[in-house]
Formats: sequence, C-alpha cells, structure tokens
Amino acid sequence: MARPIQIAPSVLPADFARLGEEVAALEEAGCDLIQWDVMDGNFVPNLTFGPDVIAAARRHTSLPFEAHLMVADPDLMAGRYVEAGCSRLIVHVEACAHLHRTLQNIASLGATAAVALNPSTPATEIAHILDLVDLVLVMTVNPGFGGQAYIASMEPKIAQVRAMIDAAGLADTVDLEVDGGISSSTVSGAAAAGANLLIAGSALYRHPDGLSAAVAELRSLASAARPV
Ligand code: DX5
Repeated sequence: MARPIQIAPSVLPADFARLGEEVAALEEAGCDLIQWDVMDGNFVPNLTFGPDVIAAARRHTSLPFEAHLMVADPDLMAGRYVEAGCSRLIVHVEACAHLHRTLQNIASLGATAAVALNPSTPATEIAHILDLVDLVLVMTVNPGFGGQAYIASMEPKIAQVRAMIDAAGLADTVDLEVDGGISSSTVSGAAAAGANLLIAGSALYRHPDGLSAAVAELRSLASAARPV
C-alpha cells in the first residue's frame, strides 16, 4: 500500500511570539505533522529554532514533530531535538561527512531518520542508505528561507527518487517529501512526479480562506495528481 498523501506546514511564517497557539491552530486545520525548519546561520544564511523553542511548543499539540536540520553538524545536537519532542530528524546529505553513521545514530536516539537533498545534489547520493530512512526530502528551493519560487526542474529528480524507493521495495514504508514553493499551482507537479508528503509555509499562511481551506486544497490537488 503506497504511503498516503500528507500535508505538513513549515512553521517559518507563523507568529513566533505565539507558537503554542500557532501549532494548535495547525492541528485544528488538519495538518498531518509539523515541520520545524532548524537553521544554524552556517549551513544556511538564516537562524531559527533551537530545541528549547520546539520543546515549548510540544505540549500544545499532539501532532508529530519533525526537525529539518539545515545545520552544518547535525550530529552535534541531534539528541537535543529528540528530547525536545521531534520523532523524526531530517539531515542534509551535504552536511554529513559520514551520512550512514549519522542516520544510524539518529535511530539509536529513538527517532526515525530522514535525509534531504539540496537542488544540486544528485539522487544517487542516497542509493546506499535507503534502508536507514523512513523519508527522503527533495528540496525544491535552495534552503534558508520561505517564500521562494518552486524549482520545477526538480521534478525529474522527484521521479527518480520515487523509482529508487519503489525499486528497493520501500514504497510502503518510506515517504517522499518535497519542500519549497509548494502551492496550489505547483503541488500537482510534485505529486505527479511521486511526492506524497508536501511541506508548505507561505501557501498555507497566505491562503485567503485560512489554514483549513489551504490544507484541504493542497490535499485535494495532490491526491488528484498522484499516479494511480
Ligand atoms: C527552506 C524552507 C522553506 C519552507 C517552506 O529552507 O524549508 O522551503 O519550509 O517555505 P514555502 O512553502 O514558503 O516555500
């Protein structure tokens, strides 16, 4: 059974002064999980959430948390993000000298491991670690900021990763996530290429009819576009 379509928010556009209320509203709006874009000002030119901020939001929702670690040394604080309540940690291929070991370490911490590919990184980089992850994230923007334009030329790479997951017999257990510029005008292309977990920030928070309508619209469009 293929993994279901899931819609998850990036918290970047939320009101950081009211994160508890914001995550509760995201649950109310029908999101499947919450992604925290963790940025260290080194791997990417931006600085966002530490583990204590995530821990403070943890008690305000029952949704799963995943930490998208856009950091230069993901091993350094992996344990802190698990302690803060993240059940999945996403590390960037580009930030890991020993990716296989880093993914094994995340599992030893009791979290599920996931890997992200920047736009210029070939899908073949993950060929030998698919057995260690429950999610592959194909970035459709260069990481660091919300509100960027979707890089449609990533769709062949999404399809290539989908084929790799399916060929490895992991279609029932591994999600294919896309993050960056996902909106009502781009979600169908990403889903048609094989993505089943769509991350959106701007498109959710800027929707004229609110979060619930935005989540429902993205879910409907993605479901209609995915290959049968
Ligand atoms: C980039 C961030 C953004 C964010 C989504 O580092 O990861 O992609 O999650 O932002 P939008 O949906 O506004 O492109």
